[in-house]
Amino acid sequence: MPDFSAKPTLRGERVTLRPVTGADAATLQHLMTDPEVGRLTGSVHSSSADAGDDYPLDQLTAIYAEWARVSDRIVWVIIENATGEVVGESVLNDLDEANLSCGFRIWIAGATGRGLGTEAVRLSVGHAFATGLHRVELEVYDFNPRARHVYERVGFGLEGTRRQALRFDDGWVDCHVMGLLASDWRGGEA
Ligand SMILES: CC(C)(COP(=O)(O)OP(=O)(O)OC[C@H]1O[C@@H](n2cnc3c(N)ncnc32)[C@H](O)[C@@H]1OP(=O)(O)O)[C@@H](O)C(=O)NCCC(=O)NCCS
Repeated sequence: MPDFSAKPTLRGERVTLRPVTGADAATLQHLMTDPEVGRLTGSVHSSSADAGDDYPLDQLTAIYAEWARVSDRIVWVIIENATGEVVGESVLNDLDEANLSCGFRIWIAGATGRGLGTEAVRLSVGHAFATGLHRVELEVYDFNPRARHVYERVGFGLEGTRRQALRFDDGWVDCHVMGLLASDWRGGEA
């Protein structure tokens, strides 16, 4: 039975995924203030809001410490190998043992467009399938063609659209559901 209690460190050429701890909260909170991250992850609902403001540091520390222990989620910090800096997080969540599926989400702040995200997606999703999962699912907003491109390149396919699912500024944004099956997994090449 797949279980996310084991949280290995995954090493790639450009990035290392290390299981998060409560001690990462301050760094992640700071990175989350990146307006692009707030907007593209749907964490904020207006151009002027700040996602890093959602939780005080002690609460965020407790949340990450809890996520470091749970058996239905793996949260990794993404470390850029070239600098040793934490640049974001990559997450397998919502483990559904009965259906052998889970969700996926990722964000990187201040280090986008360098190939780090593509490798982090490949490592994370590859781990999901290595644990015996059958399916990985994610959501991406219509105003995020870069993320959608990365997901498609790794092998995810569009499965449907939740129309106008996100309210942002004065408008509505569609949310696309994408999925990838173990049988279609070719190591992260579409
Ligand atoms: C999405 C994300 C993880 C991708 O990671 P990344 O390190 O920036 O991505 P990479 O550098 O590996 O690859 C980016 C790809 O997108 C392409 N791209 C960039 N802008 C694009 C656009 N507007 N439309 C389509 N493709 C685009 C690049 O050309 C590159 O593809 P290529 O290598 O085939 O040329 C990262 O950008 C991120 O976290 N963004 C902010 C938060 C976010 O969007 N999270 C995902 C929410 S669903």
